[in-house]
Amino acid sequence: MPEKIPWPFNRFYDRCINQMFVKWFKCIATEIKDRKISGIILDIGTGPGRLPIEIAKQVVNAKVFGVDISEDMIKIAKRNAKNEGVYDRVEFNVGSAYNLCFEDNTVVLVLSTGLVHHLKEPKRAFDEIYRILKHRGEAWIYDGRKDCTKEELKETVKRFGIEKDLILPFWIIERIWPYMHIGYKTEDYILGKVGKAIRESKFKDYDLRIEGAYVRITLWKD
Ligand SMILES: C[S@@+](CC[C@H](N)C(=O)[O-])C[C@H]1O[C@@H](n2cnc3c(N)ncnc32)[C@H](O)[C@@H]1O
Repeated sequence: MPEKIPWPFNRFYDRCINQMFVKWFKCIATEIKDRKISGIILDIGTGPGRLPIEIAKQVVNAKVFGVDISEDMIKIAKRNAKNEGVYDRVEFNVGSAYNLCFEDNTVVLVLSTGLVHHLKEPKRAFDEIYRILKHRGEAWIYDGRKDCTKEELKETVKRFGIEKDLILPFWIIERIWPYMHIGYKTEDYILGKVGKAIRESKFKDYDLRIEGAYVRITLWKD
């Protein structure tokens, strides 16, 4: 699995994200707003920055950051923030999940969507997240399920309201989904590579939920 999405696919990726995932990111932002989470919120592996941008639009009492290992992605994220009118409310920086530029116990919420399957050393990243989180701070980690059923994929597409925005017809997506670099098989999150990394990390409290075509892992700092 390549760490970065190479040029020119990073630009293509931005187009896909723009069309396909923004509604999902809006839902995550609404959950943050409804739970009245305030303080520093960090999205790791932010890519084109669409999640922090949606949070900055909805959540007023938060300082939102996005980091990505790819300089190109950070340039795209900054441009997107400008175009969406939230440039002054969100900060994007080049940075690695293994070495985050935040003091210990300072971040209230860490997010990541589609990052975990890129990580060669997930335990190291989880421990780094643990370090920067405040006491009872949370991390919401989302990643794709390569082995979701056709029905689960269909339900997720419907829930996001993106049936008409798909860049390829659904019957093609459904066939190529298991071969796309969108995540791991479910078992890898539960017992395999990712599950093992969580259990070996400093986090003692976590929850894993299957939500259609992806998993949501919540980690709590004690
Ligand atoms: C599949 S993209 C997901 C982007 C965005 N979060 C989304 O959901 O559209 C994964 C991103 O993780 C970044 N990435 C990979 N390894 C990383 C690391 N060690 N630290 C920070 N970012 C990383 C890649 O550059 C890429 O932009």
